[in-house]
Amino acid sequence: MDDALLHVRDAEVRYGQARAVNGVTLEARRGAITAIVGPNGAGKSSLLKAISALVPLAAGTLSFDGARIDILSSREIGALGIAHVPEGRRIFAKMSVEENLRLGGYLRKNERETRETMEQVFTAFPRLRERIRQRAGSMSGGEQQMLAIGRALMAAPKLVMVDEVSQGLAPVVVQEVYRQLTSIAERGVTVLLVEQNARLAFKLASFVYVMEQGRVVAAGPTAEVAASEHVRNAYLGVG
Ligand SMILES: Nc1ncnc2c1ncn2[C@@H]1O[C@H](COP(=O)(O)OP(=O)(O)OP(=O)(O)O)[C@@H](O)[C@H]1O
Ligand SMILES: [Mg+2]
Repeated sequence: MDDALLHVRDAEVRYGQARAVNGVTLEARRGAITAIVGPNGAGKSSLLKAISALVPLAAGTLSFDGARIDILSSREIGALGIAHVPEGRRIFAKMSVEENLRLGGYLRKNERETRETMEQVFTAFPRLRERIRQRAGSMSGGEQQMLAIGRALMAAPKLVMVDEVSQGLAPVVVQEVYRQLTSIAERGVTVLLVEQNARLAFKLASFVYVMEQGRVVAAGPTAEVAASEHVRNAYLGVG
């Protein structure tokens, strides 16, 4: 079996004349955490959006679990087992925690399966159980982020892509959320995350890709990438 669940090859994303992603090749190893780091505007979110078909792939190919997916719609990609937690935690503010989770689980076959998966989400994020009837929009930022991840997990994905979990959250909350992402990966779910906080990403991930201006400028096992002088200077602040 291929070690990588996801292969991105020579991917391009264009917005008009601008190339936000410019020839990116990347893979996400099964059951591992892979992180994409890089400055604002590097094309990280655009790459995740292209993988889930939220923006068109202008060139290149995507394959998932051995099959080409770059011809599929975002709904079809979701059904294959790719879940995307976008930047800015887009939960349904007026709905309850439970309603949000049920929407994430719309592909589950029946009520029993929905409940089982919801139990797993509550085990990962006990705060969501305590707030099951609460309106999602009235929860704290950290709780909303847990809900956004919980909703993605309701689809029982093989790959979960998480964009900027740490943004706007207190360090203790970030740690809690990341602890859960680690245990999600330990249960065999492949994680691809985008993270502005490079130190955090390097602590968590087994593989790191550094993107700058639409291109991958460094990639590999975390320790190798962390040893590069450019990465040390520009991202880890240890020159
Ligand atoms: N819908 C869009 N239309 C036009 N340009 C866009 C669009 N979305 C993103 N861009 C541009 O594409 C480039 C890459 O943006 P992207 O959001 O992928 O970067 P990013 O690495 O996720 O940055 P950040 O760390 O700030 O989230 C940026 O120059 C951005 O302005
Ligand atoms: Mg982004």
